[in-house]
Amino acid sequence: MAKANIAVVGAGLMGHGIAQVFALAGHDVTITDTFAQSLDTAKARIAANLRELGEDESAVARVTPCAELAAAVREADYVVEAVSEDLALKQKLFAEIERHVRADTILASNTSVIPITAIMGGLKHRERALGTHWWNPPFLVPLVEVIETQWTSPQAVAFTMALHEAAGKKPAHVKKDVPGFIGNRLQHALWREAIALVEQGICDAETVDAVIKASFGRRLAVLGPLENADLVGTDLTLAIHNIVLPAIDSRPGPSPYLQKLVAEGKLGFKSGEGFRKWSAEQQATLRSKVLQHLKAAREDD
Ligand SMILES: NC(=O)c1ccc[n+]([C@@H]2O[C@H](COP(=O)([O-])OP(=O)(O)OC[C@H]3O[C@@H](n4cnc5c(N)ncnc54)[C@H](O)[C@@H]3O)[C@@H](O)[C@H]2O)c1
Repeated sequence: MAKANIAVVGAGLMGHGIAQVFALAGHDVTITDTFAQSLDTAKARIAANLRELGEDESAVARVTPCAELAAAVREADYVVEAVSEDLALKQKLFAEIERHVRADTILASNTSVIPITAIMGGLKHRERALGTHWWNPPFLVPLVEVIETQWTSPQAVAFTMALHEAAGKKPAHVKKDVPGFIGNRLQHALWREAIALVEQGICDAETVDAVIKASFGRRLAVLGPLENADLVGTDLTLAIHNIVLPAIDSRPGPSPYLQKLVAEGKLGFKSGEGFRKWSAEQQATLRSKVLQHLKAAREDD
């Protein structure tokens, strides 16, 4: 992959990590943010991550913070947006970006669940627009979903897949622009049933998590559900589905149990209680456990 000029818009949790991955892959990266503190600390956060991971710290020199959006994107071959999850903000931002870039500059959004069509549908050159859904932290979780819309050109998809592959990511091509793409649809199908089990008094929240972590969660990193279905047999899978699917939650909206938690201010870590109570120490322990696990998995890759 030839060296490219990459612009990252939004220097928050995801944006600075995405900039880090591209800089480490040898690309020149500009990064911009409307919040001065985010922008001013971006290089220091990248340097700290690289140091912590034992990666080449000199890569941070390829990252240039720019306070002005126009200056950040003007020379870009590829722009990726990682600003707050707000449709109107993203629409306005891409309309503005399009005024400053070449007609063939690829434009990508890192939205978690908003259809790319809703964000990019108003652009003049929609064939260069797509989604790239990274996972947190971007430098530790390999997957990037590359989402094609009805207008996206095959060249834009191919370039984006190759760009991420060459940067050490595992890109997955999402051929239809559906809410939640692939990863979040699967993840939240599981969360829906996890919440329903608690709501119906079948077990408590701690037990749901313990069951997953001590059973199929152990295998998931090496055995996907469809590999697993083939392994046990599609006939057995069908027999199981005949019994289980009618019993599991299929309500179309968020669970009333979840809505009640939110209404009561039980927001999880940020309020100290969600499905469970969380002391500051328990929160720090869990965060650290996840990070250590992801680092170890990366070393095994
Ligand atoms: N956090 C995650 O786990 C995760 C995972 C995948 C995708 N995403 C998606 O990535 C995007 C960013 O999420 P995040 O967690 O990094 O959020 P964040 O709040 O950490 O960062 C967002 C940044 O965007 C900046 N910003 C807001 N408006 C801007 C503008 N007009 N121009 C430039 N910068 C602007 C903010 O100042 C902030 O620094 C969201 O769409 C989110 O849904 C998040």
